[in-house]
Amino acid sequence: MANTAPATVYILNGPNLNLLGTREPAIYGTMTLADIDALTRAHAKTLGLSVDFRQSNVEGTLVDWIQEAGTKARGLILNGGAYTHTSIAILDALKATALPTVEVHLSNLFKREEFRQHSFITPAALGLICGFGAQGYILALDALAHHFKDHGEGP
Ligand code: DQA
Repeated sequence: MANTAPATVYILNGPNLNLLGTREPAIYGTMTLADIDALTRAHAKTLGLSVDFRQSNVEGTLVDWIQEAGTKARGLILNGGAYTHTSIAILDALKATALPTVEVHLSNLFKREEFRQHSFITPAALGLICGFGAQGYILALDALAHHFKDHGEGP
């Protein structure tokens, strides 16, 4: 029987993003991660995609999930939090899985401290969206849907 399940996009969130809503709201806004989960899930549906939305404060768990995405997902949206700026392990996992990946950050990294202006993730991503708050996740889903269509993998 043909597999009619919608293609899945993993949306992975790194450290401290579980605190969204109360964490530095002037920078990260007032939406909670659960709000963003619901928002992305609803938008993915309109694109014929399904979403597996997760958060971990643990670098190795994120690496495990990226590896898992390599076999279970068609694409990946990743907000690596602070590991963005430190993690060669996450870069290696992204390169190993070679999944179409969009890097997302709520804040505009280039308006912030210099140490946030280097990302280990970007070289392994299709592109980077930052500075649009939760809307960035929606833009990332649209970007992936376009990418899938362009590559003959439309939902
Ligand atoms: C962030 C930006 C990172 O520099 C920071 O460490 C985060 C959140 C963002 O979404 O703007 O935890 O990834």
